[in-house]
Amino acid sequence: MGFESQEERRGQEQPVAVSGSTGVALADGEDSGEGKKIFEVGGKTFVLDCKKAEAVFAAKKVINGIDTMTFNLLPLKYQWAYDLYRNMKANHWEPEDIPMNEDIGQWRSTDQLSDSDRWIIRMGIGYFSAAEGIVGDNIIHVIREIVTAPELKLVLGRHAHEENIHADSLLYMISSLGIDPHECEAMFVDVESIVAKNEFVTRISKDMRRDLDMTLIENIQNLARNMFVFGQCMEGTQFYGLFGMILSLYRQNKFPGIGQMFSYTLRDESNHIELLRQLLMCLGEENPSIWTNEFKESLVELMKEAVELEKRFIDDCLPVEALGLNREDFNQYIDFIADRRLEGVGLAVLNSGVKNPFPWLAEVMDFKKEQNFFEGTVTEYQKTSALKKPLSDSDL
Ligand SMILES: [Fe+2]
Ligand SMILES: [Fe+2]
Repeated sequence: MGFESQEERRGQEQPVAVSGSTGVALADGEDSGEGKKIFEVGGKTFVLDCKKAEAVFAAKKVINGIDTMTFNLLPLKYQWAYDLYRNMKANHWEPEDIPMNEDIGQWRSTDQLSDSDRWIIRMGIGYFSAAEGIVGDNIIHVIREIVTAPELKLVLGRHAHEENIHADSLLYMISSLGIDPHECEAMFVDVESIVAKNEFVTRISKDMRRDLDMTLIENIQNLARNMFVFGQCMEGTQFYGLFGMILSLYRQNKFPGIGQMFSYTLRDESNHIELLRQLLMCLGEENPSIWTNEFKESLVELMKEAVELEKRFIDDCLPVEALGLNREDFNQYIDFIADRRLEGVGLAVLNSGVKNPFPWLAEVMDFKKEQNFFEGTVTEYQKTSALKKPLSDSDL
């Protein structure tokens, strides 16, 4: 498979320090004499002892790297992870800042919403109430626990925190609309397609909650599988049926507050998908023996299963055709999204040539356009402090 670097994929300017996604060598810094060099990281300068920096750099790995309790970020090896962390932090949002008045008015009205509209919102809140917790828990108790490089732990901590924000936003929606919380809980058990989606991911997670010998190929493959399933299958594909439906309603001027929150959530998710994609690429780059043909085929099979589960879920979300919401189109959309995720990690696609049936959604969700779309809407939420002020010591 092709291990493209972050720089190649995103075309971002890299201010520091490494070459390639994993980084094969410590970058040249400006010589400051006595075996020391000046390195620039995120707009700050650091003077590092060359020999010590090279030793730490060489010992940093995705797994089985230097064992340290000091969370020493310097020298950065995984520059992309640090950049992503800064990007995520700059896009921080809080649910209560988003007005829900119009949503409440629509929810209470007798003539502004159809039964389908209400059902989609209930399914959205019901499914994501479980899913956000499952993702955050896996990040903290499986992936962040096993990876060893501090900058990877840093960005994974932010990932988990964003899942907390998403979970909190769902509480805000439930309380604003006056939905019975037990009704949401019951959906985890009663809606068969939600149960199946949750089981699909928790089975990939629960077996890894123990001490694992990460020198064994089998265990490294289990970790790679976990990163693939959570990043590309779940967050990357199985979230997108509901994202599409809720943003379709938003486009019809229904649920403006909920739509806005899901827009912010979607932007966060696109960072999570990229984080787990990069992590998987780096893990594969450092452990090339895991990428057997058999293993790659098993990942494609998992995506196939994820797509089938998502299509069953779409059937449950859209028991009848609703305004602008056509089941077949959503199924095709999931096929399209799944193939983009497979391509992103260098795997064979399932439906070659499948087209995106929602061109307008491409403006919101399409991977290359997401950033542009949000420049006009969500980006205004960015903390000016994170964008404009010089960095402070607490940033590292
Ligand atoms: Fe989330
Ligand atoms: Fe996420």
